[in-house]
Amino acid sequence: MTIQIAPSILSADFANLERDLNAISDADLVHVDVMDYHFVPNLTIGEPVVKRICEVSPLPTDIHLMIEDPDRWAPHYAEMGANSVTFHMEATHAPVRLARQLHELGSKACFAVRPAEPVEPIFDILGEFDMILIMTVEPGFGGQKFLDNQLAKTRRLRDEITRQGLSTHIEVDGGVSPTTAHLVAQAGADVLVAGSAVYGAENPNQRINEIRDLAEKAYKN
Ligand code: DX5
Ligand code: ZN
Repeated sequence: MTIQIAPSILSADFANLERDLNAISDADLVHVDVMDYHFVPNLTIGEPVVKRICEVSPLPTDIHLMIEDPDRWAPHYAEMGANSVTFHMEATHAPVRLARQLHELGSKACFAVRPAEPVEPIFDILGEFDMILIMTVEPGFGGQKFLDNQLAKTRRLRDEITRQGLSTHIEVDGGVSPTTAHLVAQAGADVLVAGSAVYGAENPNQRINEIRDLAEKAYKN
């Protein structure tokens, strides 16, 4: 099984973003957290900075929008050349319409669920998405403790994807490290975001490969 690792630049040095993008060359994607002080109690970067990241990043960009009104703003990120755009379940009014719009603009469409949200309500529209993101911390900050109560939800989602014969990816975001990578992979996640675990390591590329190896050994479909 091929596991993809997506380091989150939330834990990078925002004054040296290009250097830190180049420090994760062994990764598969770069995860970019956009926060607006409303949807989550934190503020990060917006369109001008993400546009430059899309231009200079050697890796495909995985844009995670933790913002209000993604129906309005998400298409802008697709137009910038994002590889995938993720928006949150409770922030969007018309997820199917938005997913189709993102596809028309050439981006993958991904749907995110917070820890307290069930995944079952999206079972009937799963086929509209390339990837479902399961938050394994409350969104807003890097460096939080992994919530293992999200593993059962991850497994239910993987089983449903298999049942429907889809090839949807499951991404997990929050607290992923060498000590939790096998748990999320066993539960059926195949795209792992890791912020502090990668950028806090002395050798980020070595840490990326370590997390991927652990997850590949443990993955269960
Ligand atoms: C949190 C963000 C995450 C964050 C993960 O809201 O969505 O992407 O950067 O950081 P770690 O891996 O440190 O938990
Ligand atoms: Zn994220």
